[in-house]
Amino acid sequence: MTTNRWRGNRSLLAAVLAASTVLSVAGCAREGGSNGASKDSGVAHVVCGATEDWCAATTKKFSESTGVKADFVRLSSGEALARIKAGKGNAEFDVWYGGPADGYAAAGGEGLLEPYVSSNASVIPDKYKDPQGTWTGVYVGALGFCSNSELLAERGIEVPDSWEDLLVPKLAKDIGIAHPSTSGTAYTALWTQVQLAGGDEAKALDYMRKLHPNVLQYTKSGSAPGQMTARGEVAVGIIFAHDCVATMEAGFPGLKVSFPAEGTGYETGGVALVTNAKNPTSARKFIDWALTTEAQEIGPTVKAYQFPTNPNAKVSEKVVPLAGIKMVEYDAVAAGKAKSALNKRFDTEVAQAPKS
Ligand code: F6P
Repeated sequence: MTTNRWRGNRSLLAAVLAASTVLSVAGCAREGGSNGASKDSGVAHVVCGATEDWCAATTKKFSESTGVKADFVRLSSGEALARIKAGKGNAEFDVWYGGPADGYAAAGGEGLLEPYVSSNASVIPDKYKDPQGTWTGVYVGALGFCSNSELLAERGIEVPDSWEDLLVPKLAKDIGIAHPSTSGTAYTALWTQVQLAGGDEAKALDYMRKLHPNVLQYTKSGSAPGQMTARGEVAVGIIFAHDCVATMEAGFPGLKVSFPAEGTGYETGGVALVTNAKNPTSARKFIDWALTTEAQEIGPTVKAYQFPTNPNAKVSEKVVPLAGIKMVEYDAVAAGKAKSALNKRFDTEVAQAPKS
């Protein structure tokens, strides 16, 4: 009797264990990979396109506020895209944060990003969101010229306020700009030329070819020409205006920000979920949080002066006001579609990408 009762209890226990195993596996799958195959380990691995300091401050604050861990690798836009692509099938990163949205649009077009519309995205204006929900904007910044006014005075030229001003022979090897294959900043400059040329890519490349003799070096990172300008290696850097302000703040107050009268481009810095992320729950929490005022007010504490996309976030007085700047139509989705082919043309028709 005792034996039989034990046998009966054992079968019951086995049944309960089997059922609970099924439940826990189902639980893992639900909270696991976006493909349902993996388990979230509670750490969001972020590929971050903002400045190193901003990436560090953001991941730290995210962990403090949500209890979810996060780490990051800082990469320029083209490099981030290449690394996400290389990780297809075995994702290295869970979330992409920062860097112009055209890179996200290009990645989305290749199925490298998984649409995710955070409930916090409702407050973000539509113009800063992908219509398909692949990425959401977290900041905005205008492309401009960052000038070393002392060097310009030595050469007898005014602070530039036109794209044409950059072509004068007096600026031979005196301009710094990144390469569009690696840098989102430089791709913004290239796509701006396409827009100024009414969509004619050949004309845009023509402009870049004319600019080429005046370019000292194509850097990998978009903000690097700001430091080159500050150090007096070049007279003008073509960079986002907020990166020039950050360089001024870092001890070079003599730099001057100006904008081309014909119109300039701008970026919407994005955030998105990587396809088949290994930690999709943590990644979604990161995305939700990145859209809050708490996240979007971090920038100025680490000299990052982009405009926040959350209309309720406080705007530092050091943020360059976008309202007075003449902007070109900048459709990040169209720019993203064209990115790979246009960069290939730049590589062959203007200059090769810098070697790592
Ligand atoms: O964080 C500085 C910044 O200019 C961002 O505003 C921008 O999204 C990013 O760097 C672009 O970096 P890169 O040109 O190196 O891709």
